Amino acid sequence: MPKPIRLNAFEMNCVAHQSPGLWRHPRDRSRDYKKLDYWIDLSKTLERGLFDGLFLADVLGVYDVFGGNAEAALRHGTQTPVNDPLLLVPAMATATSHLGFGVTVNLSYEPPYAFARRMSTLDHLTGGRIGWNIVTGYLDSAAQGAGKPKQTAHDDRYAIAEDYMTAVYKLWEESWADDAVVADARAGVFTDPSRVRRIRHDGPHFRIDALHLSEPSPQRTPVLYQAGTSPAGRDFAARHAECIFMSGPSRKVIAPRVAAIREAAARLGRDPSGILMFTLLTVIVAPTDAEAQAKLAEYRRYADPEGALTLMSGWTGIDFSKLDPDAIVQHVENEAGRSALENITRADPDRTWTVREVAEHVSIGGIGPVIVGSPATVADELEAWVDETGIDGFNLAFAVRPETFRDVVDFLVPELQRRGRYKTAYRKGTLREKLFGGSARLPPDHTGANYRQVWQAIEAV
Ligand SMILES: Cc1cc2nc3c(=O)[nH]c(=O)nc-3n(C[C@H](O)[C@H](O)[C@H](O)COP(=O)(O)O)c2cc1C
Repeated sequence: MPKPIRLNAFEMNCVAHQSPGLWRHPRDRSRDYKKLDYWIDLSKTLERGLFDGLFLADVLGVYDVFGGNAEAALRHGTQTPVNDPLLLVPAMATATSHLGFGVTVNLSYEPPYAFARRMSTLDHLTGGRIGWNIVTGYLDSAAQGAGKPKQTAHDDRYAIAEDYMTAVYKLWEESWADDAVVADARAGVFTDPSRVRRIRHDGPHFRIDALHLSEPSPQRTPVLYQAGTSPAGRDFAARHAECIFMSGPSRKVIAPRVAAIREAAARLGRDPSGILMFTLLTVIVAPTDAEAQAKLAEYRRYADPEGALTLMSGWTGIDFSKLDPDAIVQHVENEAGRSALENITRADPDRTWTVREVAEHVSIGGIGPVIVGSPATVADELEAWVDETGIDGFNLAFAVRPETFRDVVDFLVPELQRRGRYKTAYRKGTLREKLFGGSARLPPDHTGANYRQVWQAIEAV
């Protein structure tokens, strides 16, 4: 039985996510990002296509590295304006029954106590379909919005994230026993106080002396997603992530990252095949190869190379406006994300990139590849990606919204199903059960599961 292929949709509560300029396409609905009916329609389409999840990216700052100010980001609409991703979820959860929601929340700017309650609330409201993409940010502009002169140094962000994770695991896993809520109307007891513990966390960066405010939600800890592939990011992912997002332009770039994270997880005593990895990719599919190529050519007319370099500047911390379009991009080390630059400088020793090539490539689907063709052509490519890199599936970006996702659902999904590489029904249960089988709660080999042992210890006395 070949390994099944999993699909996530990669979206953002903004206009130009990974394909700057395409908002101008006459069939594109990006301008409706402020309307719930766009999100509700999208979630229904994705559920019709049995997508595992809708992944909502987020940033808390503007892409002001290109040109040294926010002008380009504002003019091109590159992930600015951007609204809060979490607030979209309840409406979409009402319109669907199975689709998971992976929401991005940057832990650098929000204390763990209030954040843990927001996620518990969403886990309750979605019936256990919530996931958290753990990010620490890469934009100085986000730090400035939070009153800091610039973002914390790259590896220090991951050290702070470690402490944050300990704090939220304690709140989600350790504060309330499963049977704390008795709702005994006759006795007049809603919660048994002996079954709720005060969390005392005194870490290097965060302190908590409080009860978690929410009763246990279906999954307690949301499904944990992470997307760092630098050495520090990889260690963090190996410890905490249940699903990992990556992005790179080719299989050659992605395959060693997949292997490195699985090795790191195994060293930590986790089942390496139990971590699901998704790589960024854009699919342009139509009934025939020729129609798909024509569609891509038509999309390209709306692509916006300067918008692409505005994104790239934000991801890498390098001001691409200062570089000659025909210059080869060189590696530098800074405090922004590390893998975004690695992708085009060091990850493939046989490939160099000029600024112009980066601008053209990134303008549709970001740094991920664009796979174009008939359902059979695209399915062949996706199978090759999975078989050659060891990834589990794809984080699909859109070119034209929601057309790209509708095409995948209508053309590609049936082809993958015919090949026995795509599910024909959702599994029952929470997002964690759908993704991994097993329990709604963190698996026993996950570091966060250690925190629930406190109740087992109390019960054993
Ligand atoms: C597919 C993908 C999606 C990401 N989404 C977000 C996001 O929504 N918000 C964010 O701040 N960072 C996002 N990141 C950035 C990562 O969280 C991380 O900062 C980046 O990959 C660099 O990590 P590294 O320096 O450890 O490689 C994303 C990265 C990838 C590969």
